[in-house]
Amino acid sequence: MNNVLTKNKMLSSTQKFYSDVIKGLKSSPKSMSSKYFYDQQGDQIFQQIMAMDEYYLTDCEMEILKEQAAEISKTIALNKSPFDLIELGAGDATKSIHLLKQLIGEGQDFRYMPIDISENVIRNLETKLPQALPDLNITGLNGDYFDMLNRASEISDRRKVVLFMGANIGNMTVTEARAFCTKLKSYLAPDDLLIIGFDLKKNPHQILAAYSDKQGITKSFNINLLHRINRELGGDFETENFDHYASYDPESGACKSYLISLKDQVVRLGDTESVSFLKNEYIYMEISQKYSLQEINQLMSGLEFTQVKNFFDSGKMFVDSIWKMR
Ligand code: AVJ
Repeated sequence: MNNVLTKNKMLSSTQKFYSDVIKGLKSSPKSMSSKYFYDQQGDQIFQQIMAMDEYYLTDCEMEILKEQAAEISKTIALNKSPFDLIELGAGDATKSIHLLKQLIGEGQDFRYMPIDISENVIRNLETKLPQALPDLNITGLNGDYFDMLNRASEISDRRKVVLFMGANIGNMTVTEARAFCTKLKSYLAPDDLLIIGFDLKKNPHQILAAYSDKQGITKSFNINLLHRINRELGGDFETENFDHYASYDPESGACKSYLISLKDQVVRLGDTESVSFLKNEYIYMEISQKYSLQEINQLMSGLEFTQVKNFFDSGKMFVDSIWKMR
C-alpha cells in the first residue's frame, strides 16, 4: 500500500515536472522554474554555493542566528506562552539550530515543526536534531508548505511562529511575494509571528558576484537543471551549448539568471516533444529579489502585518525581519 502511494506520488510529480518544463520552454520568452534546481545533485551544488566566498547570504544569516539568538528568543517567547515554531523549507537547519538551542536552554515550551518538500530532509532532521538537542520536541512535516501548515493546525492549536529564512522569498517577484504572504496570512491567527529573511540591496558588484562566481559553480547549478531534464524527462540537452548569464538591476533589486543558447539547436524532450533555440536566445532561470528596508516595510505593512523587530548582521547586508499578524 505504502509503495503504491509512493509510486503514484513519484509519477505525478514527474508528470508535473514534465508539463512545467514543456510549458516554460514553449513560452516566449522561454523560462524554467528555479524550484526544480533542487534534486540530489542540485542540493549538493547549492551546498557548494553556500560555501563560496562570493555568496555572502549564508554567512550573514548565520551570524544573525548565532550572535542574536538570545534577543530573537526574547522577541518570540512573548510571556513564555507555548508555541509551535514552524519552519518553511527547513533544509538541514544549520542556521535555525542556534535558535533551537537557545530556546531549549531557556526552557521555552515549544514544538519545532520543520516543513520541507523533500522527504529526505525531514527524515534527516527527525533523526539528527534530537541527537544534538535531546530535549527538542520535533514533528517533521513532509509536503507542500500550505498543505503542511493545515496539518500543523490539525496537530496543534498553539500560537504559531513561522520561520521563512535563507532569502527564499527572493525566489519570488515582489508581486509573487505579496501573493504568497497574503496566502500565508490565511493560515495564521492574530498575534502569530512571521520571521522572514530578506537579502538587502547593496553594492551591485557584490550582489552580481554572488550569482556569477569565477569558478562556475552557479553556472553548474543552472546547467544541472538541463542534466536533470535529460535524466528524468528523456531530454537530450547538450549542456556545452548553453552558457550562464547573471544580471542585477540596482533599481528594481531583481537579480536574474539566464541560460544562453550558444547556437541554433533543437532539443528533444522524450519521444514526442522538441524545442528549438536560436543562437543567443535565453532561458530565464531564476530571480533572487533584493529589498531595501523601505520596500520590506511597504510589502509587509501593506498586508497589515505589524513590525516587531529587525535583526541585522554586522555588515547590514541581510535582515531577519519579524512581523506580527494583526
Ligand atoms: C536559495 C533562493 C536563497 O537566490 O540566493 C543561489 C538560490 N541561486 N545562487 C538565492 C541561489 C543561485 C538562493 N536561494
